[in-house]
Amino acid sequence: MIKFLGCKIDVSKKVFLPRPETEYWTKIAIKDIANFESKTSHSLKKPNYNIKVLDIFAGTGCIGIAVLKHTKNTFVDFVDIDEESLDQILINLSLNKISPKRYRIIKSNVFANLGGKRYHFILANPPYVALERKNEVDKEVLQKEPHNALFAGKKGLSFIKKFLKEAKDHLKPYGKIYMEFDPRQIGELRKILIKKGYQFEFRKDQFKKWRYLVAWV
Ligand SMILES: C[S@@+](CC[C@H](N)C(=O)[O-])C[C@H]1O[C@@H](n2cnc3c(N)ncnc32)[C@H](O)[C@@H]1O
Repeated sequence: MIKFLGCKIDVSKKVFLPRPETEYWTKIAIKDIANFESKTSHSLKKPNYNIKVLDIFAGTGCIGIAVLKHTKNTFVDFVDIDEESLDQILINLSLNKISPKRYRIIKSNVFANLGGKRYHFILANPPYVALERKNEVDKEVLQKEPHNALFAGKKGLSFIKKFLKEAKDHLKPYGKIYMEFDPRQIGELRKILIKKGYQFEFRKDQFKKWRYLVAWV
């Protein structure tokens, strides 16, 4: 069992283990969501779960579960391609006593099964390790965590490219994307974001490394 922003995260399936860097930016994203919530839902007597959040490449579901735990009016779609991960997400939602009225779990290859659905916040930690750096990854990580949760082709950009190509069409007006990346990808990412017409900001993690971006259109 792992703790992630005060949530219990079971990792008994073969899934990606949540990292402290992800916990760091998720906390910041939650503050942003809570701020949006206070502006849009403060007068509600009963929550209507109207703030739509997407946790894509969800793994254990740690990001979306932390959002649900620390905000009142959010609804989260959890997306992953891996069956073990989808099972793990359900286990973790019930472990954290999240009402089934507040989420859906969707098996999808990135956005393929999401139709035209749009979100106020899209939170993503895609696989981003460059295949050519496989020999730099810890043996234990390679043994315990699934290959397709870690690696993303040349320069580690294959899923990021696919994600950024479509993500803007799944944002509601004024919606925002939070996405984690490898600090070495920042130059390529800048080019992709400009080409795809995003406005964006790169941010550092708790170890002073470029680690995540916030993007909007
Ligand atoms: C780096 S892990 C992130 C897990 C979790 N969000 C976290 O931060 O701990 C990436 C996840 O993406 C999933 N994944 C890989 N390829 C995918 C695809 N084509 N579509 C959707 N999810 C995918 C993997 O199964 C894995 O759970």
